[in-house]
Amino acid sequence: MRVLSGIQPTGRFHWGNYFGAIRQYIELQDVADEAFYFIANLHALTTVREPQQLAQYTLDAAIDLLALGLDPQRATLFVQSNVPEVSELCWLLMTGAPMGLLERCHAYKDKKARGLAADAGLFAYPVLMAADILIYDSDTVPVGEDQVQHIEVTRDLAASFNHQFGETFVLPKAKILDTSARVPGIDGEKMSKSYNNTLEVFEEPKPLRKQIMRIVTDSRPMDEPKEPETDHLFQLYSLFVDDAEREAMAATYRRGGFGYGEVKKKLADVAEHFFVDARQRRKELESDPERVRGVLDAGAAKARRKAAEVLERAQRACGVRP
Ligand code: TRP
Repeated sequence: MRVLSGIQPTGRFHWGNYFGAIRQYIELQDVADEAFYFIANLHALTTVREPQQLAQYTLDAAIDLLALGLDPQRATLFVQSNVPEVSELCWLLMTGAPMGLLERCHAYKDKKARGLAADAGLFAYPVLMAADILIYDSDTVPVGEDQVQHIEVTRDLAASFNHQFGETFVLPKAKILDTSARVPGIDGEKMSKSYNNTLEVFEEPKPLRKQIMRIVTDSRPMDEPKEPETDHLFQLYSLFVDDAEREAMAATYRRGGFGYGEVKKKLADVAEHFFVDARQRRKELESDPERVRGVLDAGAAKARRKAAEVLERAQRACGVRP
């Protein structure tokens, strides 16, 4: 199993990112024969147009991933733009990519539907993603539901290249991330940066506590019993505790006679405790940017060796390299 996935550096990671994706990527480093993870700064450039911000988000993403347990001994971590071979392969794939196929891709289609001007980068976004995947002979791509369409496009582009020029690319499969654990935001809707309702993984404990205290709850009286499963405070609490603690909290809900304020305090405690080691590691990494750069450089060097091999194969196949 050759696993690969990309993460866009468009802001700091929140609980939804962690429980919905990052934790699962990190777990895969132990089961995959090879795991490649990269920070998709070229994709982020389609939305982040502030250079310092893009650079900072990119470095922060690397530090966060390492702090959260991505182990450079077991997984290769790098920045997308540090493997220029990807952009070259992107062009080769672009020449065979049907307009109609890309017009149906949701990022571009949604933007057009809202009457907004789209640029060629957004239009070609899935082709760059295909290059990202195919250039490492990846066979397993863990992604959220929203990216499955892009994996289908990748398979289409790879299959048609193989058909035209001979067996060149491995056809990858999406491995859909488990999103069964619901991660609501402070307003009870799905946690998402676009809803502005996030709780960040590395928020400082004090402001985090304040934000948790602002989580919206219903106004039922204290003594009334409450159903835990549908309560978003309970759902958030569940992310951080084991089954026994979860059951104990569920029993409190069913019994009634408690205030949501107490649950919020508990949530703040368990969340702080859950990320305490990661926070410590993050502090160490932050004070040693050379070490982080070292990891990213070594990752890019390793990724480039593989990328050069596959690019060369593709170049020979289509006749642009003797
Ligand atoms: N488009 C992906 C996202 O927004 C990020 C990404 C870029 C990616 N290239 C990739 C994911 C290659 C998987 C494989 O989430």
